[in-house]
Amino acid sequence: MDYENFFFYRCVFFVVIKVLLMKLEIRPPKMHELKRAIEIIYSAFKGEFRYIFGKYFDFGEKILISFYKKTIKEEDLENFLIVKAGKKIIATANLDFKNPTFARLLKFLLHFLKLNVHFLRAAPILGIKRAIRITMSMYWFFIENFRRNSCYINLLAVSPGFHNRGIGTKLIQAIEKVTREKRLRSITLDVCFGDIPARYLYKKTGFSEERHFSNIMLKYLNAIDGVFAMQKPLPY
Ligand SMILES: CC(C)(COP(=O)(O)OP(=O)(O)OC[C@H]1O[C@@H](n2cnc3c(N)ncnc32)[C@H](O)[C@@H]1OP(=O)(O)O)[C@@H](O)C(=O)NCCC(=O)NCCS
Repeated sequence: MDYENFFFYRCVFFVVIKVLLMKLEIRPPKMHELKRAIEIIYSAFKGEFRYIFGKYFDFGEKILISFYKKTIKEEDLENFLIVKAGKKIIATANLDFKNPTFARLLKFLLHFLKLNVHFLRAAPILGIKRAIRITMSMYWFFIENFRRNSCYINLLAVSPGFHNRGIGTKLIQAIEKVTREKRLRSITLDVCFGDIPARYLYKKTGFSEERHFSNIMLKYLNAIDGVFAMQKPLPY
């Protein structure tokens, strides 16, 4: 292909993508769309997962997908949002709506223990040390789950080819809408100290940095410098 043709097709490609992006659909996924959502999470947090799973990186993705397939039920899908551009899923968020009744906390604890067991069962392949390290790192999310009256963003990821096009911003706006509908008072999250694009995005969309944690458990999540807890109050 000569240079002019290449340039022409490149322009066509970007125009098509732009038109598709204008028609963004943001909603909870259907069951069959969950696998793609997890793939996006896995590729967006490649660095963290590579750190956690090492040479078992590909295997780690399979464990995660099989876990979600086994444990997520229809009613849990409202805890996810996906962004679809045309037929392509390009971003996702996993949320925790916290109005913590005792029953809800118990349900979460059960889900969490199942996840631990799931990873420990893979210990013969992963190695016992790595399997324990992975399960330990998850306690962070459990502790964080005690925050009240808020929507906690567990994970938010835009497919790596679609960064810096406003998708993350739109996803946050959608999260805000859902949170208001559930009459919760704030959105909370934790962001790694070194994740500059994410910290920029959250500040831009009205979050403030509250506390800086440096916790030994976070080392297992590759967040060596600690994390910032961020919050956006939603007054009515
Ligand atoms: C963080 C993430 C969700 C952002 O998604 P996105 O679709 O690129 O977000 P947006 O395009 O809406 O906004 C990103 C902003 O960050 C800015 N940005 C990107 N890289 C930056 C950098 N290195 N320094 C400063 N700003 C940066 C962009 O310019 C843009 O701001 P602008 O709209 O004012 O130009 C995406 O990068 C991602 O999936 N990262 C990996 C997973 C992750 O870190 N998730 C968050 C964990 S809590």
